[in-house]
Amino acid sequence: MKHSKLIVANWKSNKTVGEAMAWLEHFSKLLANDSDVAKLCSSGGHEIVLAVSNPYLLLVSQLSKDYSFVKVAAQNSSMYAMGSYTGEVSAHALAGMVSYCLVGHSERRHWFGEEGAQIQAKIDLLLHEGVTPIVCVRSSEDVRSLSLTADVVVAYEPDESIGSGLNAPVSQVASIAHQLPPIKRYLYGGSIIRENVAEYMREPAIGGILVGRASLDPLEFYQLIESALTI
Ligand code: PGA
Repeated sequence: MKHSKLIVANWKSNKTVGEAMAWLEHFSKLLANDSDVAKLCSSGGHEIVLAVSNPYLLLVSQLSKDYSFVKVAAQNSSMYAMGSYTGEVSAHALAGMVSYCLVGHSERRHWFGEEGAQIQAKIDLLLHEGVTPIVCVRSSEDVRSLSLTADVVVAYEPDESIGSGLNAPVSQVASIAHQLPPIKRYLYGGSIIRENVAEYMREPAIGGILVGRASLDPLEFYQLIESALTI
């Protein structure tokens, strides 16, 4: 495999603090002692990104200190800059703690009514703070509604593929890639599992994956990464 890949775990709103700590401890043990995944990441420049609930960001930072290829990500940020917005977490607050932040995930669009202008405001604030947005799009319409620049990562996640077991055909994923302006990296997400990950990794247009359910168990996620990076 020539190009480095980004493997993003999206825990969504799962896990208690105890469960988060246990996951990280187990995952850290799996990475230890010159593990295959640690060697592959270090030699290939691959990154493992953990998008977790805000209260667990600092826990992931600890793991990131031990393994520089592990990066911290938030799952959302405020559409407003720092200020009097009780309950919001600004891009300014996240900067320095995270390398990446998901923006416009399908579940944010569905449950919280997020759309173009709000999503664009979040992207712009994150970029201003030096945090790389991972902008989730469901379709070519979503792509057209945003102004995407060379600094953003885009993740194509069609609604029907999220959590359904109906992963999108690689040809469909590649066709969205060809509609994008120059961006930092293009990911696919939606029902990725260890058994189907290789087909996406072999497609040169796809620079990585966004994994929901299959990231909730540390061993399952570790094995998925191993399959992804040893194609
Ligand atoms: P899934 O979720 O892997 O469980 O389909 C992906 C996502 O929502 O990011």
